Amino acid sequence: MFDVKNEKQLAAEAAVGLVKEGMIIGLGSGSTAAFAIEAIGKLVAGGMQLSGIPTSVASEVLAKEAGIPLTTLEENPVVDLTIDGADRFDDRLNLIKGGGGAMLREKIVASCSKRLVIITDAGKYANPLSGFPVPVEVVPFSHHPIALQFEEQGLRPVIRQREGAPFVTDEGNYILDLQIDQIDNPQELERKLDLPGVVGHGLFTGMADELFMGDGNSVQHFTR
Ligand code: 5RP
Repeated sequence: MFDVKNEKQLAAEAAVGLVKEGMIIGLGSGSTAAFAIEAIGKLVAGGMQLSGIPTSVASEVLAKEAGIPLTTLEENPVVDLTIDGADRFDDRLNLIKGGGGAMLREKIVASCSKRLVIITDAGKYANPLSGFPVPVEVVPFSHHPIALQFEEQGLRPVIRQREGAPFVTDEGNYILDLQIDQIDNPQELERKLDLPGVVGHGLFTGMADELFMGDGNSVQHFTR
């Protein structure tokens, strides 16, 4: 049994090999992205000039600890390279993200990026996408009627909880996790999620440009 943490670190370090002087870097969220933030911090400590845009409060904290100078989408609306994790990916590099609840900012930063590079361990591959719920971020006012509509469509929503209360995202919203067994047509599902009150979701179709997957003691590289 290979060490999943080692796979995450290998993937992260491979992706950080793409970072160049002067770049604006989107800093992803989650345990794999944390390895990338650490490695980018080492580049900065070695004298490389770059700026990061964190995709979550947690990543902002890590980036500050790593000594990465931060910027914003106001100052830099075009991001050169974003390195982020994923919960599942398929053969076309469609993704399920949002296990950590940061998918709204992650997708915004990804959409501003010239290049989106995903980093994962080997357990994240699933073709078709399956084995992980699809998170949908909703404004709290709308969560009940949206959940009813998803139920009617057979999408099996479960409101994400933390310590007995609804989990609240960095943007102050709730998450409905859709318990979908298998996603044969991610684009069709995306269309079903477009309801008033939905502010984002963790299905990323056609966004990732490439992916590094740690696999045992090596790294596999996939492109779209
Ligand atoms: C957070 C995410 C993460 O990238 C995803 O959950 C993967 O996390 P990890 O690297 O810890 O497995 O989308 O919203």
